[in-house]
Amino acid sequence: MHVGCNIVDDFGHHLRRLDRASAKRIFILTSPEIWGLWGLRLAGAFLEREQPTVLFLAPGETHKCMGEVERLAAELATAGADRSSLLIAFGGGIVGDVGGFLAAIYMRGIDYIQVPTTLLAQVDSSVGGKTGVNLAAGKNLVGSFHHPRAVLADVGVLRTLSSRELRAGLFESIKAGIIRDAALFRFMERERESILACDLDALQRVVGASVRMKAEVVGLDERESGLRMTLNFGHTIGHAIEAATGYKKLLHGEAIGWGMLAAVHISRMRGMLPHSDAIRMEETIRAYGPLPAFRARVAQVMDAAAYDKKNKGGTRRFVLSPGIGKAVVVENVTDMEMISAIETILSEAAQ
Ligand SMILES: NC(=O)c1ccc[n+]([C@@H]2O[C@H](COP(=O)([O-])OP(=O)(O)OC[C@H]3O[C@@H](n4cnc5c(N)ncnc54)[C@H](O)[C@@H]3O)[C@@H](O)[C@H]2O)c1
Ligand SMILES: [Zn+2]
Repeated sequence: MHVGCNIVDDFGHHLRRLDRASAKRIFILTSPEIWGLWGLRLAGAFLEREQPTVLFLAPGETHKCMGEVERLAAELATAGADRSSLLIAFGGGIVGDVGGFLAAIYMRGIDYIQVPTTLLAQVDSSVGGKTGVNLAAGKNLVGSFHHPRAVLADVGVLRTLSSRELRAGLFESIKAGIIRDAALFRFMERERESILACDLDALQRVVGASVRMKAEVVGLDERESGLRMTLNFGHTIGHAIEAATGYKKLLHGEAIGWGMLAAVHISRMRGMLPHSDAIRMEETIRAYGPLPAFRARVAQVMDAAAYDKKNKGGTRRFVLSPGIGKAVVVENVTDMEMISAIETILSEAAQ
């Protein structure tokens, strides 16, 4: 994993540092929008003999599907991709998930490199080896673990990202600070302005620390038996809010912002989280907002959470925080606690 601010321009150099890389046919999967903004810069980094073939995926969750994977695999085959070809996924989390899955199954697996271009993709989806697509029945239902040969995160490309997408991704970094990296949390508390103004040094620090946190956790527990579960802080209720609002109203990171407020609420009600830490968590989450308003009924959110629980084997594991930089997984969060937390955030969200 490499985090920097000139990686796209120096891409050829990074590529040639990976052994065997220059001998391969190279394919780039990207979206038309990202290629329009940054394609020339990336393409300029390749030597004449390495000129890549570019494949496109239209933006949006609906294109993260089996049909597109089949189309792209056929395009790879037509263009002569073989076992030694290299795929570069150049885009946000959607391009990364589809590209990773395509690389996992094309000829039973080819090498790929992630070049994530959204903050969410840099700090979250490009790390950990999860790849996959959605089905009509639900999100991310088909996929596989396939680790990229490298992840090259260039914070410079975040300059063209909308401020809303940037802030949504930063909620995952706040989560990284809350569950494991108190120094990152303090940095985000203190440097809010420079981070939101896309100061490259500040972003490099945030992305670097978030990625290290996730890579460390995933390295210790790849298949999600215990520790990796803590990455789901804010996600039980966050996912339920996404589902209850039909995945339309909020970006993933924003739903997680709301979900983290709910998790802080439960942690505090149990007396496990000191009041002063709870206040700092809430203030920091709100400072990276505004979290968009939405309306939902408590029962809708509870139903969505129950559905999630059913899919995960019947126990409701919930991640709480006993203090900044710490997280614990518990299985005894009651419906009453859930309802109290959901009611609190729904009344704030409806304003
Ligand atoms: N694999 C994992 O572990 C994992 C983890 C978290 C999320 N995800 C997945 O990631 C996906 C969401 O990813 P996302 O938030 O990056 O969304 P996204 O890929 O849809 O990108 C968001 C938007 O930003 C645009 N964009 C991307 N880079 C840009 C840039 N540099 N400048 C301007 N515009 C740019 C895209 O074209 C798109 O319209 C979801 O499908 C989610 O399931 C996967
Ligand atoms: Zn998330």
